[in-house]
Amino acid sequence: MTMDIAITALLNDLEARWQREQAEQASLSRADAYAKVDDYLLPVGPETGRLMNDLIRALRPAVVVEIGSSYGYSTLWLAEAARAVGGKVVSFEIHAGKIAAAKAMLASVDLDPVVRFVQGDALASLEAFAGEIGFVLIDLWKDLYIPCFDRIADKLAPGAIVIADNMTFPPDNADNAVAYRARIRADARFESVLLPIGAGIEVTRRLP
Ligand SMILES: C[S@@+](CC[C@H](N)C(=O)[O-])C[C@H]1O[C@@H](n2cnc3c(N)ncnc32)[C@H](O)[C@@H]1O
Repeated sequence: MTMDIAITALLNDLEARWQREQAEQASLSRADAYAKVDDYLLPVGPETGRLMNDLIRALRPAVVVEIGSSYGYSTLWLAEAARAVGGKVVSFEIHAGKIAAAKAMLASVDLDPVVRFVQGDALASLEAFAGEIGFVLIDLWKDLYIPCFDRIADKLAPGAIVIADNMTFPPDNADNAVAYRARIRADARFESVLLPIGAGIEVTRRLP
């Protein structure tokens, strides 16, 4: 099914903003760019967005979990697919201002009823989260991937897919990425593959 023209236009606008932000980041010192990190979208990008959207359409999960909403770029891709299959998105984000912006953006394309945002530290929120999860995007600060995975592992439905972003980019995340991939691969309940799209994603499946 083709995506709604208004959603496609919104994604294009956000991707143009991302290009401008990347140029700005490249012009700033590392310290100055870091000081502005909460102003930036930091999105998964169109390839990962498209793959997640297709996987959700194929898997038809009732519950999609997003850990790290930021300004809602990845949320748009997830929510569009979730709505198409009658599912919902629960999105975890610590920054209240980003949630407000993401909510307004989703409302502008009528996707707001599909998404419930949970504001606060995702580690505590995931601990309290009850219910079976069919699809997950992990994309928050990079040292938190393993503790997040540990909090959702027992809540994943048989056949559930977990996508973890930033496995190959930025390079200074290499240690966290290697540790995350080792954690997954040491667990016999899962099979996993690293895909070289976007910033490098680990695609992990909970065995039935
Ligand atoms: C890379 S951005 C997410 C980008 C988003 N997935 C997208 O593709 O548009 C990471 C986000 O994780 C959030 N975050 C960082 N630590 C968190 C925590 N402990 N709990 C919840 N959210 C957190 C940050 O505020 C930031 O918005």
